[in-house]
Amino acid sequence: MKEIDKIRKSERISHEMMYTKYDLFAKGSWLEKPVQTVINILSMIECKESINILDLGCGVGRNAIPIALYYKEYNCMIDAVDILDIAIKKLRDYSIYYGVDNTINGITSSIEDYYISNHKYDLILAISVLEYLENMDFLLKKLYEIRDGLKQNGIACFICNSNIEEKSILTNQQLSPQFECLFSDEEFYEMMAKVFEDFELLKRTLKKQVYTIPRENEVVKMETDVVTYVIKKR
Ligand SMILES: C[S@@+](CC[C@H](N)C(=O)[O-])C[C@H]1O[C@@H](n2cnc3c(N)ncnc32)[C@H](O)[C@@H]1O
Repeated sequence: MKEIDKIRKSERISHEMMYTKYDLFAKGSWLEKPVQTVINILSMIECKESINILDLGCGVGRNAIPIALYYKEYNCMIDAVDILDIAIKKLRDYSIYYGVDNTINGITSSIEDYYISNHKYDLILAISVLEYLENMDFLLKKLYEIRDGLKQNGIACFICNSNIEEKSILTNQQLSPQFECLFSDEEFYEMMAKVFEDFELLKRTLKKQVYTIPRENEVVKMETDVVTYVIKKR
């Protein structure tokens, strides 16, 4: 099996396991609540006749569902894209449960294959997903699409893992990180500054995190510096 196929299989296993084991907003998992930075951004979006939002790698709707509820009284449409069938199926079920199925358009697709139309979106989210894109060229191409896909005054919010290390919990041995795009925080900032050079930087933070994540044969420890990066198109 090629390395990229191995990585994709491994991440599919870990996400499918999460989405099967935990319900949306279940306590004690990362699905427990939406990302606070995302919720804080919502009051900054200019509310016009219609609001268009794109959630890349949306999962089961941890952020999309609260956003849809926030904009319930507005003409809002959220395009929510995920590569996993199970994520989009559960997203649709949760949208019905929370009464926001008219607002969320679930799309099963890889981000690489999903073309972002120009000047369409007021808000684009890429929360914990950029590191899963096929390679750095795809990532760069997608960042340019995000730049062009935002309307004027539109906001993009990125959260991603940088400086990733994976270790065996049993032996403490260093493992090859199961992510397609590996970059340092500095490399990430450099790339963002280049692509979004005319944008206003609203937030940039770096936070050390340690997680345990299920892989095919064992649960591993992942150490990462999580970057939060929020920008606004002038
Ligand atoms: C860590 S989860 C984050 C989910 C969601 N953004 C959240 O904050 O709850 C990453 C998600 O990205 C999806 N994903 C991974 N690679 C992808 C790709 N190339 N295209 C689309 N979705 C992808 C996974 O299926 C998974 O649902």
